Amino acid sequence: HHTVRRHTPRSLAALDTPIVSLTAYTTPMARLLDPHCDLLLVGDSLGMVVYGMESTLAVSVDMMIAHGQAVVRGSQKACVAVDMPFGSYQESPQQAFRVAADIMARTGAGCVKLEGGQEMAPTIEFLVQRGIPVIGHIGLKPQAVHAHGGFRTIGRGSEAEQVMADALAVEKAGAFAVVIESTMEPLSRAITEALGIMTIGIGASPQCDGQILVAEDMLGLFPDFTPRFVRKFANLGQEVDRAVAEYAQAVRTRTFPGPAECVGMPKAD
Ligand code: KIV
Ligand code: NA
Repeated sequence: HHTVRRHTPRSLAALDTPIVSLTAYTTPMARLLDPHCDLLLVGDSLGMVVYGMESTLAVSVDMMIAHGQAVVRGSQKACVAVDMPFGSYQESPQQAFRVAADIMARTGAGCVKLEGGQEMAPTIEFLVQRGIPVIGHIGLKPQAVHAHGGFRTIGRGSEAEQVMADALAVEKAGAFAVVIESTMEPLSRAITEALGIMTIGIGASPQCDGQILVAEDMLGLFPDFTPRFVRKFANLGQEVDRAVAEYAQAVRTRTFPGPAECVGMPKAD
């Protein structure tokens, strides 16, 4: 047994290859993703992907902590980031610090992520100055889905200036990285050029300093809704369907369990 050195916000920034990142919510999935990923995000998307919610708005801090613990247990090498859920940080920098400190202390995660640009800059600064590494999240902010008027591409026309201002504010506040979600490609590219900190794209640009996807989306395990920016690298949902159909058939025909799966079963003659 040898100790694997886990990525930190600092070591991520020192990588000379694009940051490879996926979401993870559970120990078994974290084990599968960890060898290949630099950063694992315990995203509040788990509300939709794991709990079947319509949006991320009802996700609680307790849910994020339970799944954060599961992902830290299942990973060795990747830096683990935990999303701050809706309502747990928007009220004040003090509220955000209490929740972020709780998440960090109880999960062992390396950093937190929160949604917002200029309006969240004082909060990001408050956390960073007190020792909590922060990833920002701009462009499409799923916790603001109702304000956005749905899940859509952000940054067409005059909206682009707003998103660029958000990016600059998040960097100035001290975030070590920023997720850019569902934005026009030239805007994501311009933000990546303008910022010194890492940009991690999802529906953004190949020029970002890294990419992130929801693991279930790219594995074909979440059929409910697939945004244009998802590439399906596998169709595991189909594979699960095939396996479960075979199992059902085996149970109904009494061919499962067989002799190898039972103890002391007399041989058929
Ligand atoms: O919650 C999430 O999964 C996210 C990523 C898609 C960036 O915030
Ligand atoms: Na999220």
